[in-house]
Amino acid sequence: MENISPALLNWFYANHRILPFRSDPTPYHVWLSEIMLQQTRVSAALPYYERFLAALPDIPALAACEEEKLHKLWEGLGYYSRVRNLQKAAKIVCEQYGGELPADYDALRALPGIGDYTAGAIASISFGLPVPAVDGNVLRVFSRLYNDDGLITDPKVKRAFTARVMEHQPPAAPGDYNQALMELGALVCVPNGAPLCEQCPLAHLCQARAAGTALSLPRKAAPKARRIEPVTLAVVRSPAGVLLQQRPEKGLLAGLWQPVLWENETLTPDEARARLAALGVTCTPDAAKALRPAKHIFSHIEWQMQGYLFAADTQPAPASCVWASPEQLAAEYTLPGAFKAYKKLLAAAL
Ligand code: ADE
Repeated sequence: MENISPALLNWFYANHRILPFRSDPTPYHVWLSEIMLQQTRVSAALPYYERFLAALPDIPALAACEEEKLHKLWEGLGYYSRVRNLQKAAKIVCEQYGGELPADYDALRALPGIGDYTAGAIASISFGLPVPAVDGNVLRVFSRLYNDDGLITDPKVKRAFTARVMEHQPPAAPGDYNQALMELGALVCVPNGAPLCEQCPLAHLCQARAAGTALSLPRKAAPKARRIEPVTLAVVRSPAGVLLQQRPEKGLLAGLWQPVLWENETLTPDEARARLAALGVTCTPDAAKALRPAKHIFSHIEWQMQGYLFAADTQPAPASCVWASPEQLAAEYTLPGAFKAYKKLLAAAL
């Protein structure tokens, strides 16, 4: 196949989106944007990106940020291990590299939360190093360009695709080339629905287009079944605010805040009341109000939540819990997106 980079780069320079991390692609900016964009659409990530950098303008500021504030900056983005790894890596960068990311693929790759893709994006976009940055967009483009139905989740297939990506990479513009492939995948060779081949600068070379197979590529393994987990939660409100419980330091949603809840349990209102009493929380005797059931899908678990609303008089909070006023909930405590359905109620004063 002829080299795709001239047509691809021309298209990219004329059509790419103006994005803040493109206007000022420092290593820190590219790193943060690529981590945010891993599970989040560009339009959803942008306000977070701006707010995060306004609060933490450089790597030393990120390394020193207090955990509660860090979580708050990520609230709503999900996959909070991303921001915890970001800070872990920032601390290492301060200790080992004087607070600046190293211009070296292997050194970047060794940092927490930085995989092949992110190391490649930082190294090529910020440092101009000739390395690949292969994400889902790029795999989709290449599976179609070569009409290759290899399973892109298979590491051997991914390596073979990456080798092809590198065959076309121009030594003078590795960062632009990598971004152009991602941009083509995001804007033209799209994942859901028909690709916009009439806008594609590579349409004349595309083997899937010639064969009529683009819609069925890339081939993916069937997704793993999710485990379904019942959850019962209690929204307990007192004059001092709503009762929030901090999750354990390890595991799902580590260290974040939630209404008091019981995983893997389907409790009646009386059972939930008794569990609260066992924790040391006495609710008023009036009947608990049943709340609307809600679901939340994590990558590997689906929570099926049912909830009850209880009232309580002023009393001390049990271990790992606080009474949070609406103002404190808004400013200090990070409530994961899993509880979105209950957020209004949690944030409303009694
Ligand atoms: N998606 C993730 N990173 C991207 C980038 N740098 N350009 C375009 N789309 C992206």
